[in-house]
Amino acid sequence: MNQAEQFDDLLTCRLGQTQRSLEPCSVVIFGASGDLTARKLIPALYHLHQEGQMPSDYRIVGFARREKTDDSWRDELRQALDEFSRTKPVDAVVWQDFAGHLSYTRGDITEPEAFQALERQLSSYGKEPLRRNLLFYLATPPSQFGQAVEQLHTCGLLHKGGEQGWQRIVIEKPFGRDLESARQLNRELTRFASEQQVFRIDHYLGKETVQNILMFRFSNSIFERLWARGSISHVQITVAEHQGVEQRGGYYEEAGALRDMVQNHLLQILSLVAMEPPVSLDAEAIRDEKVKLLRSLRPLSQEDVARQVVRGQYFAGVVDGELRPGYRQEPKVKPDSNVETYVGLKLFVDNWRWSGVPFYLRTGKCLPVSASEVRVQFCPTPHVLFAADCGQQLDANALALRLQPEEGIYLRFNGKVPGIGVEVRPVRMHFSYDSEFGAYTPEAYERLLLEAMAGDATLFIRRDEVEAAWGIVDSIRGAWGQRPLSNREFYSAATWGPVAADDLLAQAGHAWHEPLLTNHVKKGR
Ligand SMILES: NC(=O)c1ccc[n+]([C@@H]2O[C@H](COP(=O)([O-])OP(=O)(O)OC[C@H]3O[C@@H](n4cnc5c(N)ncnc54)[C@H](OP(=O)(O)O)[C@@H]3O)[C@@H](O)[C@H]2O)c1
Repeated sequence: MNQAEQFDDLLTCRLGQTQRSLEPCSVVIFGASGDLTARKLIPALYHLHQEGQMPSDYRIVGFARREKTDDSWRDELRQALDEFSRTKPVDAVVWQDFAGHLSYTRGDITEPEAFQALERQLSSYGKEPLRRNLLFYLATPPSQFGQAVEQLHTCGLLHKGGEQGWQRIVIEKPFGRDLESARQLNRELTRFASEQQVFRIDHYLGKETVQNILMFRFSNSIFERLWARGSISHVQITVAEHQGVEQRGGYYEEAGALRDMVQNHLLQILSLVAMEPPVSLDAEAIRDEKVKLLRSLRPLSQEDVARQVVRGQYFAGVVDGELRPGYRQEPKVKPDSNVETYVGLKLFVDNWRWSGVPFYLRTGKCLPVSASEVRVQFCPTPHVLFAADCGQQLDANALALRLQPEEGIYLRFNGKVPGIGVEVRPVRMHFSYDSEFGAYTPEAYERLLLEAMAGDATLFIRRDEVEAAWGIVDSIRGAWGQRPLSNREFYSAATWGPVAADDLLAQAGHAWHEPLLTNHVKKGR
């Protein structure tokens, strides 16, 4: 059996495990009155309940400082579901049943008494697994993460190694602000929990289309054999957002596109696209390969950053007939802010497979569309036939993995235009998730919560991964320093970033490809 066939076997086995039986447990959400809980966590848990995927017995405890009763928290969540549930209307009977699992504990993470109250709440559950199997979801500001974990340990709810039932901590992004703060947070966490108990979230890894990158690469021999220098000219990864920062200016001023998107989503996608085949589908085997890939990225000197990294900030522009404010006019943004809302970069993976192949990454706010896509651009054929005979410029083959929206895969190749003569033009073959599998696509948070309850860390980021990614981001930030944005670094709202982003590819004879969307999706942006 060759390597691709062995992988096929492994994948088939893994895919067979669609439904797992989960041990009864309690999920404690710190930050229960916040946006993430209302928008993502509760809708995800509700859908898992609706589909019968939650454990046979479970409780959900909300924890936050605001004064609430169980009933008032449930009422708020019911309203949030009306807005954020992916299936509407919300089923009243399912909701009643689900709501019975919810309770609220008021408390401040800084106060030991609040954790004693939480401990009493959990102790009141009759069944042992509900008191011992505990998933702590930290949906609070990152400044609270370390303290929450210490308090959990002190009040006896978190045991390192988990010999009494299991306890796991789910940590939201951002995980640190730079390499040093990420290391510090890792140290704080691992004082009280083992690495196996820590589940660092990047919700992109919960997306079906992102998970499919590995399945696609390693279960299709026709592509697996081409996946290397020699066949691939370059790779483009685009994560574009049409909306500006809107109400999140305060957060964005501290983050910027590099920390908010590149450090996690873009580098995660890159590592899945470029990593070597793991020896198994085991969480550690996959994460070992991702770390190896991140460590193979060619370090960026100050001069490399000047040549290979483009930043930008949007200014006001007319979008769909309406004037959109520039970033500096957004609420809670400084009028002279130097924060980047766009990053485009060229990276090289210095290993045998990818030597010399550029990987172009870009992300930004206020771009023409919202779309995430990986585009693999193959090498052109020799121009001895058509180009020489007919003077035609043939397009090279390209494969686009559309992560969202209109999830699917496109293969672009050349075909003869029917008729007399030799005219060749690009055509597309298209696989769409919707038409193949129906419209049902679970939300990323559903999958991630399920995996965390099952204790499978494959879709979560390991300590060394997060640190390797910060190393790359820090070298870019260090090179930028305090230098103010120049005029060339601004772009008009709803355009594809500053001109320098095009120049970055043009130097090598390449050009960005816009994700192709149907008009229907474009209108909704
Ligand atoms: N919202 C999103 O879509 C999103 C996406 C990705 C990542 N995240 C991350 O998820 C986390 C939460 O984000 P969010 O948008 O939900 O923030 P948020 O709306 O500001 O909510 C923060 C929550 O933390 C609670 N909290 C703050 N300090 C506390 C303390 N000392 N003790 C107890 N509870 C405390 C707040 O409740 P009280 O004020 O009632 O105490 C509130 O429930 C952040 O780390 C964020 O970066 C959010």
